[in-house]
Amino acid sequence: MADLSTSYLGLKLKNPLILSSSGLTSTIENLKKAEEAGASAVVLKSLFEEDMTNEVNKMGENFDDMLHPEAYAYLQESGMLYSADKYFELIKEAKQKLSIPVIASLNCFSTEWWVENAETVEKMGADALELNIGLMAQNYRKSPQELEDRYVKIFQQVRSKISIPISVKIGQNFTSIPNMVYRIINAGADGIVMFNRFYNPDIDIETMKMKTGPRYSTEAEFPPVLRWTAIIASQFDKCQISATTGIHSWEQSVKILLAGADTVQLCSVLYKNGIPFITKMLKSLEQWMDEKGYSNISDFQGSMESDSDAKEEFYERLQYLKSIRESE
Ligand SMILES: Cc1cc2nc3c(=O)[nH]c(=O)nc-3n(C[C@H](O)[C@H](O)[C@H](O)COP(=O)(O)O)c2cc1C
Repeated sequence: MADLSTSYLGLKLKNPLILSSSGLTSTIENLKKAEEAGASAVVLKSLFEEDMTNEVNKMGENFDDMLHPEAYAYLQESGMLYSADKYFELIKEAKQKLSIPVIASLNCFSTEWWVENAETVEKMGADALELNIGLMAQNYRKSPQELEDRYVKIFQQVRSKISIPISVKIGQNFTSIPNMVYRIINAGADGIVMFNRFYNPDIDIETMKMKTGPRYSTEAEFPPVLRWTAIIASQFDKCQISATTGIHSWEQSVKILLAGADTVQLCSVLYKNGIPFITKMLKSLEQWMDEKGYSNISDFQGSMESDSDAKEEFYERLQYLKSIRESE
């Protein structure tokens, strides 16, 4: 029978399937379910910078007129810590109750506070930290360079304070994804999580208000993840890749491993089918390996990654030409 074990961020995993950061990983009950279903690790829901600033703002609305600025500053401070405390409890309890690795997640846009929170994440016993740096270019005055420098700066500040492995979860809105990955890896990241799926907007044309667009991914979002996984895996030997977005089937898991991903993170597919669906995906993956005669993940992992820049550019161009010809 095939051995599905692998490693990611220096952690030994029994297979490549991880439950990704989301509402699904916010309760111990769900985390236990994921472990029972066979997930090899869990990424806890993120502690969001917005959670903490909202908490502080709420307090501001109530107390602003009454308080001395210094006292307000103090409340701001304790408000932040209160919100974060709940999160740290989740890490601690998850570590006590699960035997699979627990990866904590911070989702930030500014460099303030995060170092302190990362240190507490480490103290609570998290096996690794996933840093979801949610910066998007929205202001024409800010150059791409400035934005990219902030990614690196946030990472470096956190890296300098903790010693557990750190992965960085990025979006796909960069002019050069390979260069951004290079800079993050060069700064000392243990892995890259590709890709974060940003909040999607929509408009309610009855109420004339903004609303949330599709919350869950579809399989149609998978091809770019496959492309970039293959490109990044071929260029960075030391960069471990955890693939996320649009992976809804065991077949897509196989494809992304073939392209060079080390692990596969699952989210929308489990919202749709329930956490126990992981068991089915694992069985099918194992069966496929047995049929192909692969006894270990490393027998096939990365075997379809692109092996040079030139080849990649030629391949991309060929695919483009093919798609035009086929649609004529
Ligand atoms: C309801 C929901 C909540 C999420 N919350 C987080 C979060 O707290 N932190 C994070 O890094 N990603 C979060 N994500 C993103 C997922 O971890 C995942 O990267 C994304 O949904 C793409 O994977 P998928 O196609 O399997 O859904 C969330 C996704 C969903 C659908």
